[in-house]
Amino acid sequence: MAYEMIEVRTEAGKVGVITLNRPKQLNALNNQLMDELGAALKSFDADDAIGCMVITGSEKAFAAGADIAAMAKYGFADVYGGDYITRNWETIRSIRKPVIAAVSGFALGGGCELAMMCDFIIAADNAKFGQPEIKLGIIPGAGGTQRLPRALGKAKAMDMVLTGRMMDAAEAERSGLVSRVVALDKLMEEVLGAALQICEYSRLAVYAAKESVNRSYEGGLADGVMFERRMFHALFATEDQKEGMDAFVNKRKAQFRNR
Ligand code: HXC
Repeated sequence: MAYEMIEVRTEAGKVGVITLNRPKQLNALNNQLMDELGAALKSFDADDAIGCMVITGSEKAFAAGADIAAMAKYGFADVYGGDYITRNWETIRSIRKPVIAAVSGFALGGGCELAMMCDFIIAADNAKFGQPEIKLGIIPGAGGTQRLPRALGKAKAMDMVLTGRMMDAAEAERSGLVSRVVALDKLMEEVLGAALQICEYSRLAVYAAKESVNRSYEGGLADGVMFERRMFHALFATEDQKEGMDAFVNKRKAQFRNR
């Protein structure tokens, strides 16, 4: 598929990198961009050589939100009846391999929500996060009111969603929204380092880890703990578990075969 609003490349043959590419609109997210993003993610997910994915933007903006110019003319019947804005926002949730958000610059509105839909966020020191929808007479529509409280707690989530203020990278790291903050010129190096590290591990264990953490994030504790236990048990049926433990015991590097 030829892409117009994203750029797609692989790093070291193992990491699928997707760069949002509407620089004039600060990567404002419209249906075409989200369709392309979904197609690229699915294609990497189906590619056996790829172990991890990265979504990134430009230095100035990861994404400044859903495309306000496109949304401005919509009414209730369009967005609810026609599902014009949100119809293709959930594709990323069906991706089994880890997806890291590499955020520099603005991650606002749908841009912040997209980053939060990734498995974790590594931010540059110039990153700014926010849910400014309230200023437009709307509220977040792609999970922001649900994921922000889980990531930051209720007080900060309410503050962000009700005032529409931005949070800088240092506050985002303190609050648990992002896992690491690095200098802008070191962002991709740091993110690719993490992605390549994940690629080293057994894909079966990586899938099980991601599914289990998501179970905690999205569901209740008792259910999540039971799910994790069953995934833990299931991994003892894999060759990679035998290989990983044998390698440790014999002080050698494990050779995982995803079996
Ligand atoms: C469409 C956008 C845009 C957006 C910026 N642009 N954000 N176009 N949709 N979300 C365009 C501007 O109109 C402008 O176009 C160009 O990008 C550069 O933006 P400036 O405002 O000139 O840049 P700057 O002064 O540096 O300010 C940057 C900014 C500001 C603080 C990020 O652009 C801003 O506040 N943007 C809107 C952020 C926002 O409200 N996001 C939430 C959207 S609602 P021209 O043609 O003038 O050069 C949302 C709902 C999610 O996301 C629902 C999900 C389903």
